[in-house]
Amino acid sequence: MKHDLLGLKELNADQIRNILDEAADMKRVVLSKEKKIHNLQGKTVVNLFYENSTRTRLSFELAAKYMSANAANISSSGSSVAKGETLADTAETINAMGTDILVMRHNMSGAPHILSKLVDASVVNAGDGMDEHPTQALLDMLTMIEHKGHIEGLKVAIIGDIYHSRVVRSNIYGLTKLGAEVSVGGPRTLMPMGIDEMGVQVFDNVHEALVDADIVMGLRIQLERQKKGLFPSIREYFRFFGVDESRLKLAKPDAIVMHPGPVNRGVELSTAVIDGARSVITQQVTSGVAVRMAVMDMLVHGGF
Ligand code: CP
Repeated sequence: MKHDLLGLKELNADQIRNILDEAADMKRVVLSKEKKIHNLQGKTVVNLFYENSTRTRLSFELAAKYMSANAANISSSGSSVAKGETLADTAETINAMGTDILVMRHNMSGAPHILSKLVDASVVNAGDGMDEHPTQALLDMLTMIEHKGHIEGLKVAIIGDIYHSRVVRSNIYGLTKLGAEVSVGGPRTLMPMGIDEMGVQVFDNVHEALVDADIVMGLRIQLERQKKGLFPSIREYFRFFGVDESRLKLAKPDAIVMHPGPVNRGVELSTAVIDGARSVITQQVTSGVAVRMAVMDMLVHGGF
């Protein structure tokens, strides 16, 4: 039976811990001079991206190559998708080429779930619409463990566009399963209905969300998904919800600052905070390669 990683909603705490344990081992490979193991020798990984990406696509590709897999990329703009080929026909084509792992990003929530039913390959969700981005949340959790030693009991404040964010959904599933206390803060117009039923504290201001936080996570204001004027202007957003050095003082003195990227400088976080000593944004990127190595290794060799 094949295994997929479609979301953290489907995983239990032990499964999440197993991935994070293996990712910690893989991080040593990523940081080593060799960067080469042979766990996926002879396997083929295809990245199928219907939306733009820098971090996720490159890190899946590098993760596959560090594990000696064959790796290929398809984006919608440079493929027959741009000529009108359906998702099902694209899936059949990729299936016929002997793909073992298919990594997919799509602007439609649930697209990887559909793809999984159409192909023999293991499917990894690399971000689907406003649903989930499971490997992002896993790399966030790995980075938190590296700095704090544990997830249980951590106070995690997530600030920004909660409504459109697949990153926040995956983080809420993962962090609450591992025992963290999660608070979310942002404009009411960017809070989805039912968020308070996900086991988090919800604030319509940044101050209360930040108090005593161990982790401060900014979320990108998704300008490409804002068509309804959900806040007056970027300047207003930063004035009321942006995390600058003065607001960061509300968190614990040793709090770390995270962001999934790409960052809008001076919107979610000030430049001083992004480039400051407490920022671990670059380390998140390194953790991303390790997490993707662990996930693909476990999909092929078991562990899910
Ligand atoms: N965090 C993230 O998903 O970044 P990309 O869109 O660059 O992949």
